[in-house]
Amino acid sequence: MGCFCLKPTSFFFFLFAPFICILFLQSEAEGKELYYDFVLKETNFTKLCSTKSALVVNGSFPGPTITAHKGDTVYVNVYNEGTYGVTIHWHGVKQPRNPWFDGPEYITQCPIAPGTNFTYTVLLSSEEGTLFWHAHSDWTRATVHGAIVILPAEGTTYPFPQPDAEQTLIFASWYKEDVQTLMEEALKYGGLTVLSDSYAINGEPGDFYDCSNETTFRLKVDYGKTYLLRLVNSVQNTDQFFAIADHNLTLVGMDGNYVKPFVTNYLMITPGETMDVLVTANQSSLGQYYMLLSPYFDGQADDFDKSITSAIFQYNGGNYTPPSTPAYPSHIPGFYDIDAARNFDKSLKSLASPEHPADVPQHITTRMFITLSISMLLCPNDSCAAPAGNRLASSMNNISFANPTLDVLQAYYRNISGYYDTNFPDKPPNLYNFTSDDLMTDNVTLSDQGTRVKVLNYNETVEITFQGTNAMNSGENHPVHLHGFKFYVVGAGVGNFDNGTDPLTYNLIDPPQVNTYPVPKIGWATIRFVADNPGVWFMHCHYDRHMSWGMDVVFIVKNGDTEETSVRPPPDYMPSCGENSIYGGAEQSMYQLGE
Ligand code: C2O
Ligand code: CU
Repeated sequence: MGCFCLKPTSFFFFLFAPFICILFLQSEAEGKELYYDFVLKETNFTKLCSTKSALVVNGSFPGPTITAHKGDTVYVNVYNEGTYGVTIHWHGVKQPRNPWFDGPEYITQCPIAPGTNFTYTVLLSSEEGTLFWHAHSDWTRATVHGAIVILPAEGTTYPFPQPDAEQTLIFASWYKEDVQTLMEEALKYGGLTVLSDSYAINGEPGDFYDCSNETTFRLKVDYGKTYLLRLVNSVQNTDQFFAIADHNLTLVGMDGNYVKPFVTNYLMITPGETMDVLVTANQSSLGQYYMLLSPYFDGQADDFDKSITSAIFQYNGGNYTPPSTPAYPSHIPGFYDIDAARNFDKSLKSLASPEHPADVPQHITTRMFITLSISMLLCPNDSCAAPAGNRLASSMNNISFANPTLDVLQAYYRNISGYYDTNFPDKPPNLYNFTSDDLMTDNVTLSDQGTRVKVLNYNETVEITFQGTNAMNSGENHPVHLHGFKFYVVGAGVGNFDNGTDPLTYNLIDPPQVNTYPVPKIGWATIRFVADNPGVWFMHCHYDRHMSWGMDVVFIVKNGDTEETSVRPPPDYMPSCGENSIYGGAEQSMYQLGE
């Protein structure tokens, strides 16, 4: 078992095989090595009665599932046969000391140019459950994404009874037009972004759209069996409620972590969240039951795709004589049901068992207070599409993040100045009543553009309170996602954060540990994590439109004192950033042993 992992084509394999075997035997307890090939290519799809070509991996939408065990290392060789540069991110994978392969473009690497390839090393460590991978360049995530299923390490089991079967359900947006073109237009004029034409479950819009009911996704189930559904929300810009008619859901995991089992008849899942849910097929009338994906929206602009996507939970052995329609979930919350969304998030707790303990940082060394706002940037000649000819933007602490032309990681690691500043503020420049209506003055609505990062010392214990503002009457929840870490959500609430009373409500025993959390509309949420992962890590709202408008920041976590607490050495080959880059040519390969 020890040796299959090295590419046996290598001449070095034969020379050093015995030596290498010893090394791998040692690490075998930590997992296996797996290889995947991802070929990115434009492929034709017909949905909603219209055909377009979309960039996808290995010809499929959604893309292939990566299945691994906890602690495995996955090598994914990405060949870009498309027409523009792309990167891939392993969403929710901590990648200990391994920022080189995290993926966000211009943060940890430059895009993989068309006609080239790049092999990612994905180090699985503490993650167990469901995560996903997706493109992290512009809005390419729309069609470039797939699930990562991380099974318990060999010899261990789920902290719940073994389900009879498992099924991954991936939620996405579908646009009849080319997504890249739509996004470029929107960003060019600085106005609102275009809405999707449908959502999809495993690539299928479902029964309530034109030309779609023939291919609605069906999960065939047997009466009496229990199914583990692995939900992935890769929708572009909208949260979703999910429910199955006449069936309860037991939430057992989130974001590659177990939670205290929680029985519910609906759930709310934001872009960037993943959930593991048990469902027992316990309806003795062996019928068909809709699984619904219905948008949740709490903003004021009311600009979201108001369509409902369906799949079918279908019992084997039932007698389906047409025109029988599946049962409809009567309890699915409406589009604007803010209480349903908040109540769901309030119910989340980590499992906090002896095998899966919660280890909430109790002593904080770095505190930040970060406002999340929709804002504007000045536009040359006031010629943009937002009010006063400005450009629509979004910000954290009034800074609207701009991508550098050389990735932050390279600039940091090689000590190249001029690409970012280390002065991201620990609090907003102005204090105002963040949640009041009609916050329309320039000092609130106009942000500064910049590439500002926050530098953290190794092992710092960090607490961040996010405050959602109502600037421009545009308060809505923001699913904030942090790369390189999982964080504990110790508290959340509505209104302005009160640093006298709100901390008294913190859950420091069993708060949920996640990588993405929706900061409530004109409310706040406080997270904690230990900065024990040296590297360069992106944090941003997981709505793609807010991400591209600038609701982003980068953390640089400095090295500790030892090699084991420092960033791993860079691979021999990273995609070039053009003339700025010192990274070399494509003929170099990370598989070349020795230098
Ligand atoms: Cu799922 Cu930075 O993203
Ligand atoms: Cu947002």
